[in-house]
Amino acid sequence: MKGILRIDRINVFYGDVQILWDVSLAVEKKEIVTVLGPNGSGKSTLLRTIVNLILPKKTGRSDGGIFYQGNRIDGLSPEETVRLGISIVPEGTRVFQEMNVLDNLRMGSYAKKAKEVREKTLKEVYALFPRLQERRFQKAKTLSGGERKMLTLGMALMSKPDLLLLDEPSLGLQPNFVTRMFQTIQEINQRGVAILLVEQNVHYALEISHRAYVLENGRMTLEGTGEELLNHQDIKKAYLAL
Ligand SMILES: Nc1ncnc2c1ncn2[C@@H]1O[C@H](COP(=O)(O)OP(=O)(O)OP(=O)(O)O)[C@@H](O)[C@H]1O
Ligand SMILES: [Mg+2]
Repeated sequence: MKGILRIDRINVFYGDVQILWDVSLAVEKKEIVTVLGPNGSGKSTLLRTIVNLILPKKTGRSDGGIFYQGNRIDGLSPEETVRLGISIVPEGTRVFQEMNVLDNLRMGSYAKKAKEVREKTLKEVYALFPRLQERRFQKAKTLSGGERKMLTLGMALMSKPDLLLLDEPSLGLQPNFVTRMFQTIQEINQRGVAILLVEQNVHYALEISHRAYVLENGRMTLEGTGEELLNHQDIKKAYLAL
């Protein structure tokens, strides 16, 4: 199977310090895949590597790489990566503070293909997040934390991704917003967007995931379906406090 995303034994360093060791992972079309792991295990680094904000290094041990719809993508620029249809919602929120919600959303569809369908996509984003429509003329810096989170996700959707990388989308949200966020992720997925998710909310994440991986100290240590990992002894002990 070709898969929409295939990562083959990559090694990633910050300076001389190796963070990811022979990491492999696949996301098939229409899947939600979650990566779990303790703080500092390299989850965000993995997502940043996929969008070419960091480059994997040749180590001599591996001749692997990152493949998107069958084509090698490691080494492209982050902009080219977005143009191909991969979008990342990084940890925290990145919005243009002085711009209003609507202009922030429009900035999300800077690539030509996304721009052509911008107004239609905008309607879809407003349907997912009615709050953003209500607040469309409000400056981003005056939004609440949860609203800013919605805006960051909305901006990523405006680029019309086929693959969406989400780094802890539920972080800092109050419980009823968390539930809503996971529903929204599922809705986005059901519209045909493949999702690679990093989450601390392990239970929710596994419940909506087709498959999941565990990353520990920069190495993949466990892999299975969402259900298998939900019922796995090690996961229960380490992440679900059962
Ligand atoms: N720019 C950087 N320079 C040097 N080291 C870094 C850099 N960014 C991250 N690291 C280190 O790389 C390791 C992995 O970090 P990463 O952010 O990928 O972890 P994570 O799994 O996302 O953790 P968390 O759950 O806390 O978000 C950590 O030890 C971190 O300190
Ligand atoms: Mg992280």
